Amino acid sequence: MNDLHSRCSQESLHKRYLGPRTGLTPVEWERMTKPGTALTWVTYAPESPERLIAVLQLVGSAGGDSADLGLLIEDAWQNRRLGTALVRHARTQGHRIGATAVTGTVDRRNTAMLRILKGLGARLSFGGGSVIDVVLAATTADEPLEPVAGGRRFREQARPGSVGLAASGRLPLR
Ligand SMILES: CC(C)(COP(=O)(O)OP(=O)(O)OC[C@H]1O[C@@H](n2cnc3c(N)ncnc32)[C@H](O)[C@@H]1OP(=O)(O)O)[C@@H](O)C(=O)NCCC(=O)NCCS
Repeated sequence: MNDLHSRCSQESLHKRYLGPRTGLTPVEWERMTKPGTALTWVTYAPESPERLIAVLQLVGSAGGDSADLGLLIEDAWQNRRLGTALVRHARTQGHRIGATAVTGTVDRRNTAMLRILKGLGARLSFGGGSVIDVVLAATTADEPLEPVAGGRRFREQARPGSVGLAASGRLPLR
C-alpha cells in the first residue's frame, strides 16, 4: 500500500487526504480494513498483480446509514476512467452494506473527482474553506464488475491488513 503511495505525486496525496501525507501507518491500514467498520478494495493491472494502482475505501458512519468514500489512483493510471468505475463500484457496494448514501469531502479544485460525482448525480454543498461536501445516493442500479476468470472472494478476513472485497472483477478502462 505504501509503495502505491510512494508512486503518487504530492498533489494526488494532498487531494486524497486534504493535507500533507506520504503513506499510511499500520494502525491506519488496520482501521481501513477492519471488518464490520470499513471496506477497502485494491486494484491492479492483470499483468502485474503485485503492483497496486488504486485503493478505494468506504468507512461506515457511527449511525451506519452512510459510508465515507476515499479513493487514490496512482498518477500514471489517472484520467483513464478508472476513477469513474471505482466510484460507481463504491455506490453499489455502499448500498450492499446497507448505507443509503456515500459521502465525501473533496477539494474544490479537484476537477476530476467533482466531474465524476456530478455525473452520478451527487449533491454538492460548500463545506467551508476549500472543500466541497458531497452526498451520493447509494444504489443498486449499476453494471456489475465483469468477473475475472478464477476470481476469488475475499470477505471479512480476520487478519489485520487483509482486504475486504465483495468480489473480484475487471473494471472497464478506456
Ligand atoms: C480524482 C480521481 C479519483 C479521478 O479518477 P480518474 O480515473 O483520474 O478520473 P476519470 O478518468 O474517471 O475521469 C473523470 C472525469 O474527470 C475528467 N478528468 C480526468 N482527469 C482530469 C484532470 N486532471 N483535470 C480535469 N479533468 C479531468 C475526465 O475527463 C472525466 O470527465 P468526463 O466524465 O466528463 O469525461 C483520481 O485522479 C485520483 O485518485 N486523484 C488523486 C486522489 C484524489 O483526488 N482522490 C479523490 C478524493 S477522495
